[in-house]
Amino acid sequence: MENNRGQWNSNLMFVFAAIGSAIGMGNLWGFPYKMGANGGLPFLLIYLVLVVLCGVICMGVEMAIGRKTGQSPVVAMSMVAKKFTIVGWFGVLSAFIIMGFYSVLIGYAVRYCVGFMFQLLVGINGFGGATTGADFFVTFTQDVPAVIFFTFVTLLLCLFYVSKGTEGLEKFNKIGIPGLFLILVGIIIYDLFLPGAKEGYVFMFSTKGMEIAGETFNFFKALRTAGGQMLFSLSLGMGAMITYGSYLGKKESIAKNAWIIPLFDTLAAIFAGMAIFPAVFATGNSVNAGPGLLFITMHDVFTTMGTTGNLIGMFFYLLVIFAGVSSAISLMEVVTSSIIDMRAVKEKKSNRTTVTTLVAVAIFIISIPIAVDQLGLAGDQGIFWNLYSYLGAGSQDLLDFYDMLTEGLMMPLGALLMCVAVGWVKGFDWMSEEVTVDNKTWKCKNFFRVCVKYVAPILMAFVLVSLFLSYLGL
Ligand code: PFF
Repeated sequence: MENNRGQWNSNLMFVFAAIGSAIGMGNLWGFPYKMGANGGLPFLLIYLVLVVLCGVICMGVEMAIGRKTGQSPVVAMSMVAKKFTIVGWFGVLSAFIIMGFYSVLIGYAVRYCVGFMFQLLVGINGFGGATTGADFFVTFTQDVPAVIFFTFVTLLLCLFYVSKGTEGLEKFNKIGIPGLFLILVGIIIYDLFLPGAKEGYVFMFSTKGMEIAGETFNFFKALRTAGGQMLFSLSLGMGAMITYGSYLGKKESIAKNAWIIPLFDTLAAIFAGMAIFPAVFATGNSVNAGPGLLFITMHDVFTTMGTTGNLIGMFFYLLVIFAGVSSAISLMEVVTSSIIDMRAVKEKKSNRTTVTTLVAVAIFIISIPIAVDQLGLAGDQGIFWNLYSYLGAGSQDLLDFYDMLTEGLMMPLGALLMCVAVGWVKGFDWMSEEVTVDNKTWKCKNFFRVCVKYVAPILMAFVLVSLFLSYLGL
């Protein structure tokens, strides 16, 4: 059956799309805080080693699987080896679950961006009269219909771009990715002139961050935190890069792209910290992690800056939206393209807009419990509701539970199995043929061979076991 899958217009468009998928919420609130709280520079070094030995490797593996098979994860993995089809399914399921909370969080950012825009343009309090970040955050998260509304708006935006296929993804990323780096650098420069900003750099880059966050350095904890963060941040282990790789032309270089994307993602993570922490310290705010940092703390930071704060605040949340949506569209694309490709195998034609709409509706449905849970503030709502407190020991709320299932379990498992499928079942030469197609050179071939077969699977197994033990409270 003819399946018109589309192709990226240029290598730059592929790189933009892959960088867009990689840079997201994970960079903005995950990395900088984890770096500060887990040792600063030593954490950065561990992270970088993992990016090189595992991130770059899995990136190459996924792109090669995608381009060689020309399919999205489920069909692609079944073509690699029938018994690995389940890995593709894990990917689709992960993408679906991540979108369940990701869309809610982007929805928050849309609300904040609108709030600051109102303050800037109309001059009225854009946050319902609230004067502190914490006040507004609690009021807003408890306003479930409002959260659902902004989640809906976010999904509409994603639907708009994903329904157009590669052309739509390119359209968003062409503006979103340069816009993202521009805003990030703009905020970093602004921060440089804030009195007291230095503390922010100290928090991130020296071991003092641990004292401030009340943590002590633990090598294994740092390793497992960095491992989970690295996979999530690089969108690996769940087939997003298989999907994007499947639209990559044969003349583009997988060998180079496998390095470029992790490089920019890591830069963005460090830049994000340099944009957020100096402002946090300059305004005397706390460095607490998670949604609190991105919403409560940063809201307070912009409020203390007076009128300029409205402008910077609006751009900051626009940055969160750009980063979030370019990742969300890749998550949605994994699910959408998998359905279309699986139907094509069965000789069934699909209408992309219809499939994307159905996917968006399904995501909307699973995002509602996240909105209702109010990041755990809603408290105990009965046995089914609190499933996570039984199944996901250690999960503090439903969002944490969704996160544990994906980043904690399915993604490291997916990355491990993809390396095993390529390195051992198909054989490394299968991948190497694809990377060196058209007589392309591949300088790091032997490095990849060793890492695909041994280093990356062992590291992933370690991350998996230790993350699992931590969820069991060990
Ligand atoms: N990499 C994204 C982030 O750092 O926020 C999250 C993500 C996007 C994970 C796409 C997985 C994925 F397929």
